Amino acid sequence: MARFVTVAKADSIQPGQMIKVEIDNFPVAVANVGGTFHAFDDTCTHEDCSLAEGELVKTAVVCPCHFAEFDVRNGAVLAPPATVPIKVYPVRVQGNDLQVEF
Ligand code: FES
Repeated sequence: MARFVTVAKADSIQPGQMIKVEIDNFPVAVANVGGTFHAFDDTCTHEDCSLAEGELVKTAVVCPCHFAEFDVRNGAVLAPPATVPIKVYPVRVQGNDLQVEF
C-alpha cells in the first residue's frame, strides 16, 4: 500500500538541483523546479541510466547517456531515443521533511 516516505530535508535540494534516493531499494529521483518538488523513476526507460545524474532544464530532465528528455511533472517523453514514459510520484513537504508517496 502506498504511503509517504521521508527521503530528504527539503532545504537540502536547491532549485534546479536533482538528487537520487532509494525507497525500498528502488531508485527514485527528486528534482526541485523553482521551489516545487517532483519525484520520478531514476532509471531511464531507454537503457537504464540514472536520470538524477543528468541535467534538469526547467521542467525537463535530460538523460546523461543518450539525451532522451522527460517531463518531470508527468513523466512524458519529450525527446528520443526513449519512447516509454517514466513513472512519477506525489511529493509533499511536512515541516522540512520531503516526502514521496511510494
Ligand atoms: S539511457 Fe537514457 S537516453 Fe539512453
